Amino acid sequence: MSTVTTPSAISLSSTFLSDDGFKGGLKSIRFSPCKFKESRVSRVGAVVTAKFDLKPPPYPFDALEPHMTKQTFEYHWGKHHRAYVDNLNKQIVGTELDEKPLEEVVRITYNKGDVLPSFNNAAQAWNHQFFWESMKPNGGGKPSGELLAQIEKDFGSFDTFVTEFKSAAATQFGSGWAWLVYKANQLDVGNAVNPKPSEDDKKLVIVKSPNAVNPLVWDYYPLLTIDVWEHAYYLDYQNRRPDYISIFMDKLVSWDAVNARYEAAKAAVAEKEKATA
Ligand SMILES: [Fe+2]
Repeated sequence: MSTVTTPSAISLSSTFLSDDGFKGGLKSIRFSPCKFKESRVSRVGAVVTAKFDLKPPPYPFDALEPHMTKQTFEYHWGKHHRAYVDNLNKQIVGTELDEKPLEEVVRITYNKGDVLPSFNNAAQAWNHQFFWESMKPNGGGKPSGELLAQIEKDFGSFDTFVTEFKSAAATQFGSGWAWLVYKANQLDVGNAVNPKPSEDDKKLVIVKSPNAVNPLVWDYYPLLTIDVWEHAYYLDYQNRRPDYISIFMDKLVSWDAVNARYEAAKAAVAEKEKATA
């Protein structure tokens, strides 16, 4: 079980989908317990149930066309993502996992790689929300400022980063995800991989993960992801996964979102160090 007690969970789901719109969500981004879950209160004030809600993406279903069609989006969000959320709710209702933030459910159920039954649905619910928010209409291009400088420091150049990210996404065998993550010190991580602090910490890293696994379980801070399950691209690109990945990088990535996550990650790490000093 994870021993993480710092504010390393991510609330992107709720902040990005705030009523004040996408930009407002970015401004309010924080690494804090996810509010994806909403308790329902009866008329007498007692909590009668709690469940995770399927949030809509932060743009219309046809907003990413022609790069990601409305048909793909409606199936991906409306069928696949919905099923993960619905099945998770069925699995955890009435268990000790009920009432916990989604990020915590993901970490607990990963269980050092010996996953509990609800892990796949919990992680996939989180991954898809994060994926929708990793994109935007008229995305692509490149980041700027500190994020760009960090990418150039850790990968040599932005072009090298793009090449390595595309390679990770293309070579993930079968279903899974590719990620850009911020890797900070890991002093008290009980889950699976637990490298000791070193000069390699506080850097950007590209990782790929099979099926539902996401880097939260290793206490990394996810900044960007691409879904490389076939259901993400088959209707639009058939078996041409590399074409889908290239379009994602060139036309869809929201560097605004990545930058906001990067800043939030650094702030969370600083807060964690302050608390443990
Ligand atoms: Fe997916």
